[in-house]
Order: sequence, then structure tokens, then C-alpha cells
Amino acid sequence: MTPGARVAAAIAVLDAIIAGAPAERALTNWARGARYAGSGDRAAVRDHVFDALRRLRSCAALGGGEDGRAVMLGSLRSQGIDPEGIFTGAGHAPAPLSEAERRAGRLPTEAEARDLPDWIWPYFEAALGEAAPAAAEALRQRAPVTLRVNVRRITCARAQAELAGEGIATQPVSDINNALQVTNNERKISRSRLYAAGLVELQDASSQAAMEAIDLPAGARVLDFCAGGGGKVLALAARHDGTWFAHDADPHRMADLPARARRAGVAVRLCTMEELAARGPFDAILCDVPCSGSGTWRRAPQARWTLVPERLHDLARLQGEILARAAALLAPEGVLIYTTCSVFVQENEDVIGHFLRENAAFGVSRMRRWPISATGDGFFLAQLRRATWKDGQP
Ligand SMILES: C[S@@+](CC[C@H](N)C(=O)[O-])C[C@H]1O[C@@H](n2cnc3c(N)ncnc32)[C@H](O)[C@@H]1O
Repeated sequence: MTPGARVAAAIAVLDAIIAGAPAERALTNWARGARYAGSGDRAAVRDHVFDALRRLRSCAALGGGEDGRAVMLGSLRSQGIDPEGIFTGAGHAPAPLSEAERRAGRLPTEAEARDLPDWIWPYFEAALGEAAPAAAEALRQRAPVTLRVNVRRITCARAQAELAGEGIATQPVSDINNALQVTNNERKISRSRLYAAGLVELQDASSQAAMEAIDLPAGARVLDFCAGGGGKVLALAARHDGTWFAHDADPHRMADLPARARRAGVAVRLCTMEELAARGPFDAILCDVPCSGSGTWRRAPQARWTLVPERLHDLARLQGEILARAAALLAPEGVLIYTTCSVFVQENEDVIGHFLRENAAFGVSRMRRWPISATGDGFFLAQLRRATWKDGQP
């Protein structure tokens, strides 16, 4: 496909998304009807679409409209690319610009340049204070691609060398053991030998740092209560000896977990809620709860435009319920761990505060947040345990 044809495809996909389609489905639908598109074309169209979604408001201002064509026009302008060379009408390129389109477009206002809905900005400011503008700017950029090296099976240096042999360049992430940031050929990772053999996993640097910060009793029976694909439980199992259990309210979300665990050389037992009651209590329970994902919005850029206040409120209620349900499965001296990839106080400190008010026996032994940065996503961790007489508290 020519550069113009790729932009035309991105315009069609953006129109479908703006009309309400989920981004992934819109891309898949386009790819199904575009058998002529090779993997490079599909990747380029995806990049155009995701770049534009990360900057939807500012691109709409620069392009002078809110449909796919105007947004792509604004996106090209924001990258300093002359749209006249793309909007040529030749072959499958978009039709040439009209005089009105040439005149349309203006610099974004301060609010538009943040590329967030207005209602959500106060939540960023409340959570991050002076760091909020830098977080918003980071969410306008592409996300870093980071690997977790399974050091039970390979050293970081060897993993780096083998990946380099496959043309994939990486560099260590400072302060996070076993994390490698991919600096070129990111798309080759899923086809690399190391990935197929479970020697490296894709995992954001902040998630890795949070899993590294968790203290677990030696040989603990650990339950990942919201396991999904199992990224967190596998990261914990790579560092600790224990017995591993996984649960998810939607068992389909765990479909890949057995194969991933096998590749990583870890035994993880998948459990229904009924089985958990029989197998509990657990020494440690991780609740990696569903959340707005506000710390990861550069990876899923549509989410910032579709979140509504009611959903945020519902999420906070669900997060509290999950924590309470998990606490009931915990051994008396057990560790309860709560994580989100959101930066909002309402999904983090407020949920923990509410839980502590309802469960006076618990105290916080660790609470930490990771900012949205060039190396990692926004992430929150709270580690709780029952306060005992031993701690000098009633
Ligand atoms: C943030 S995702 C977990 C990601 C996963 N831990 C990982 O590292 O790949 C949250 C998960 O919680 C699950 N979930 C939602 N409601 C739940 C509930 N009431 N109890 C347990 N899991 C729930 C969702 O199906 C989803 O898979």
C-alpha cells in the first residue's frame, strides 16, 4: 500500500471508531476486507489510528473537524508532514484537500492540547498535582515496550544477546531487575524464540516494579484473585517459591494462562469461586482489580474518550467489593495485595481507605504509586495485613 492508501485506510477505521466501534474491532474489520494489506501495511494503519486516538482533541483542532478525514489531516499536521503529498487522490490515496480544508484548522487550546476529556482533568490534578501535565503529555506518546526476563531460566545478559541475534535491541530499565526495554523491532517479539519458549514475557516496567516490591512469606499459598492472562502471578512466581492459584470472575480471561504458565515452568491451579472456598485460606491474595486503566491510556487510547463518571463510580464500588470478597479467603496472618493501573485517588487510596474503615483489623504495610513515565505506566500498589498485638496495636 502507498503512504496515501494507508492514510485512507486509517481515515475509514477512525470513522468507524468515532461512530462508536471499539478500536480493535474496527481495525480487524478493515483488515478482513483488505486482503492486499501486508503485515507492514496493517502495522502502519494501526499506528496512524492509535497515534490519532492518543491526540484526538488536538488533531481535531488542527484538522478543523471531528471526522476521520479531519482528524488524520490534523495528525499529519501535528507531525510536521505536508498533507498535500498524501491527500493526492492518486490510486487509493484520499481525495485532494478542498480550499476549505486548507484554510480549516487552528492551534489547539490549552485544554485541547492535553488530549483528555475536560471532566477527567480534575481527577488527574487531584491525584498527581504538579505532575499532572507531564502525565497527560506522556499519555499522548506511544508506550514503551518492556520485557520481563524469566531469570529462573535465563540471565538478563543472555536474553539480551539472544534477542540481539534476532535483530531485537533492548536496554535494561534502571532500578527494575530483570526488565528490558525494547528499543527497536518491537513487533518481532511475539515471533522470537525467547518469547515462544517462555524465557521473556511482555510486561510493563511499573507492573514489574510493583510485583518486585511485594513481600511474600516463604513457601506461601498465593491466590491471584483477578488473574486474567496471569501476567502478575507469573511475575510473582518468577521471584518466589510458593503454591500458586488463579481465579477470575470471567474464566475465559484465563484461557491463555495454562500455556503461559507451562512455558514459564510454573504450576498454577485455576479455581472457581466454589473451589477457592475449599482450598482456602490463602497466605497471600493479589487483587489486580478491573479499573479505568488511566495509567495505561497510551496503550488503549480509546478508553480515555469512552470513560464516563458513572463508570468510574461503578468501578470504585466493584473494587471495594472484590477486596472484601478476597479478604474473606485470607489466612489470619495473611497478606492482602491491591493493585490497579489507574492513577486516580478514587480507585486507589479511597478504596483502601474505605476498606480499612470497614475492616478495622487490617493495616497498610506498604503503599506506593508509580507515575506515567517514559519507562512505565501509572500503577498503584497497597499491601495490607491484619494488625496484631505483636505489632503493638490493639
Ligand atoms: C486488570 S485485569 C487483571 C489482569 C491480570 N492480573 C494480568 O496481570 O494479566 C482485571 C481482571 O479482573 C476480573 N474481574 C472482574 N470482576 C471480578 C470479580 N468480581 N472477581 C474476580 N475477578 C474479577 C476481570 O475479568 C479481569 O480479568
